[in-house]
Order: sequence, then structure tokens, then C-alpha cells
Amino acid sequence: MSDFDSKSQVQTSGRDSFASSFGVIAAAAGSAIGLGNIWKFPYITGMNGGSAFIIVYLVCIAVIGFPVMLSEFMIGRKAERNAIGSFKKLSPGTPWFLTGWMGFLAAFMILSFYGVVAGWSLNYVFQAMTGSLSGLNPQQMGDFFGGFITGTISPIIWQTIFMALTGYIVYAGIKNGIEKWSKILMPLLLLLIIVLDVRALTLPGAGAGVEFLFKPDFSALTASGVLVALGHAFFSLSLGMGTMITYGSYISKKENLGKVAMQVTIADTVIALLAGLAIFPAVFAFGIEPGAGPSLVFITIPNIFNMMPGGMIWSTLFFVLLSLAALTSAISILEVVVAYLVEEVKMSRHKGTIIATVSITLIGYLCSLSMGSTFDTLFFGKNFFDLMDWTSANVLLPLGGLFITLYVGWVWGPKTTLTELSNNGELSISYLGVLMFLCKFLAPLAIAIVFLNGIGILSF
Ligand code: PFF
Repeated sequence: MSDFDSKSQVQTSGRDSFASSFGVIAAAAGSAIGLGNIWKFPYITGMNGGSAFIIVYLVCIAVIGFPVMLSEFMIGRKAERNAIGSFKKLSPGTPWFLTGWMGFLAAFMILSFYGVVAGWSLNYVFQAMTGSLSGLNPQQMGDFFGGFITGTISPIIWQTIFMALTGYIVYAGIKNGIEKWSKILMPLLLLLIIVLDVRALTLPGAGAGVEFLFKPDFSALTASGVLVALGHAFFSLSLGMGTMITYGSYISKKENLGKVAMQVTIADTVIALLAGLAIFPAVFAFGIEPGAGPSLVFITIPNIFNMMPGGMIWSTLFFVLLSLAALTSAISILEVVVAYLVEEVKMSRHKGTIIATVSITLIGYLCSLSMGSTFDTLFFGKNFFDLMDWTSANVLLPLGGLFITLYVGWVWGPKTTLTELSNNGELSISYLGVLMFLCKFLAPLAIAIVFLNGIGILSF
């Protein structure tokens, strides 16, 4: 008898899973689309020269991002386990499970600082709504942001609220928590970003921003810009730490994984471009420097909104968008940890969620406090926040992605890959040869270059 209920696609093995195809896409795209798209992508694009950087980023997404995502989905779905358990089940008695442990560690690190930035965003929703940001001049806006993030109690309170929301959704499980909320929040996010795009693109002088994004100028592109693009492809698509292995484990055996990976990759890229289209036309229309760096979203954007009629509303909408995007990503990071605690440590979901949420929130407090003078110890010249960010993005994600592609390319090879990709021969797969080439050679090589650069062994 089939292991599945064909109508609803629900696995009847007792393990919680996604119940619909749209739910799978919404949850996985929800993970991919986050602070990376709306906060990070526009500012790194601005800092690396605009359009040419975007072209390189798109190549990285297609050549490396897509095969890593597909590999993660395949590993997870085949094993039906969390990131660590998947490798233990598929390759018992080998060190491959260490790839899962790196992901587990990366989840703690990323969510600890991610929750802090998401907390800032939640605070900005509140500040924008109550009009506290209106009427501030650019200097005051900068002082407001600096004063807030270096404070002791306030950023921690907002971070705790955000983490509590994240924990609340994960606590409810895959179908009734993650899938249910992703299906509501993702369409809302799309709607919000389109509204903001229309607003930005109809500003007088918006054309210069569109040109900055889409008219290629390769002279502005540096070798280090290429590496930033590759690293960001990992972060933005939630790859290299087992998030997509974990989500893959909840996907029905009937789903076409190649199609899902393609749709999620496209959705993430389109939203990043739409975020750029909401931000740069406004940046140019108001004559502001596009390469403002990480503060672009928290200082430059509210400044721009203040110069527009109805600025309070636009600011509020923008930070609601940013917070929602962060929430659907944060739940996917937390799920990596919770799935491990439930399946390998045999905790109840409720206990696992509480333990994971509380411990990550506490580490996050250190990230938040390290922005000010309360906890200003430096590690390798970095404060705790930057240490978590740097180590996860430059070491753990690339290494994780490297091992994942090597695993599929060399341990599985074409035969096992085809069986998994074609749902045991039910789908015809025309791109197996290309995928194997990418997984065996091209992706690992490119990732190795990013990694060696990230840790400073190779320098461009
Ligand atoms: N992809 C998310 C973003 O772009 O904000 C961040 C992220 C989520 C990174 C999940 C890694 C991860 F496993």
C-alpha cells in the first residue's frame, strides 16, 4: 500500500509534513526571502556598483545556488530526517553527519543575530506607526538608529518579541504552524512589495535608479564583488546549513523537486530585484548616495519616506514587509534545531521548541549587547554580533554547501540522484547531466574559492 494519501499528499507515516504544493513553495520561499533580500541585497548591490553585480549574482544563483538547493531537498526527502539525522541514515558510520552538525551550529549563530536585526525592524514598525520617525532630519535619523541599537534594554525587548513569534509558529508544527503561516504571510509580502514598487517607480527621477540596477557597467565590478555575490547567493537562498534538507524532509514523495527548487530560486531572486526596485528609484529620486551600507534600510529609507507625502504610511508598510520576511526565514532556521531535538534527542516538539527558542534568544542578547558598550569584548577584532555573522556566512555556509554538493556529486552519483529526482522513475529528467557536472565540479570549485577567500587564505 502506498505510504501516501494521494489526494492530500499527506504522508501517513506519522511524521508531520507539508500538506500542499503551494504550502511547500510558500514555506521554502518564505525561508529564502528574508532580511537577505530586503536589507542586505540592496545595500551590497549599492556598494558593489549596481547592475554588473546583479548579473554576476544571477549567474551564481543559477550555477551554484540552484544545484545546492536541489541537493538539499533530495537529501532531506530521501532520508525523511533532520539535517544531522539525514546523513546518519543515508551514510551510517561515516563522518558525513558532521555536515549536519555544522548546519546546526550555523542555525544558532545566524538566528542569534538575525533575531536582533528583525527586532530592530519590529521596533521601526512601531516607531513609524506612531509617527516618531516623522519630521526627523537625516542627522537625527542616524542618531536615533545609533542610539537605539547600542541601547541595552530596548533592542533586547524587541528581539525577544520577535523570537517569541518565531517560537510560537514553530511550536505548532509543520502543517499547522510553518505551512499555515507561510501561506498567509508570503502573498501579503508580495502585495506589500508591489505597492512599494509602484510608489517608488512613480516618483519623478526614478529612472536613474532603474538604470543603476539594470544598465550593466562592468567597470564598477571588482573581484571581491564577485565573491560577495557568491556568498550572498548562499545566504539569500538559505543554503549550506541544512534548512532545505529539513524542509525537504517534509516534502511529499510525489512533488517534482527540480520544479520546486526552480520556483523557490526564481521567487527569491524576483523579490530581491523587486526590493531593489522599491529602494533605488527612491534613493536616486531624492539624490542620496546608493552605497550607504548596512544602514541603508534603517536610516536612508526612513529619510526618503519622510520626504514623501504620506511618509508615515510608506515607512510602516516597509517595516511590516521587512519584519514578515524576517519571520518566515527565522522559523526555518529554528526548525533546523527543533527537528534535531525532536528526532535525535527524542524531545517533544513543545519542549524542543522552547529549549531552542530560549537558548538562541539568550545568545542573541549577547549579539545585541555587543552593539553597545555593555558587552564590548572583541573576538579576532570583531564584536560578538559580527563574529556570529562572519563565521556563519564565510565559514559554515560555504563549507556546508561544499560538502552537500560533493555528497550528491560523488557519493550518490547519477544513479541515486536520478532515482530521487525522478520520483523513482515517474518523472523524466532531462537535466541530469548538467546537474551532475555542477555538483561534481563547478559548484564545489566555486564554493571552495569563496571559502578560501572568506577566511583570508586566498585574497582577491
Ligand atoms: N535566506 C534568509 C534571508 O535571505 O534573509 C536568511 C537565511 C535563512 C539564511 C535560513 C540561512 C538559513 F538557513
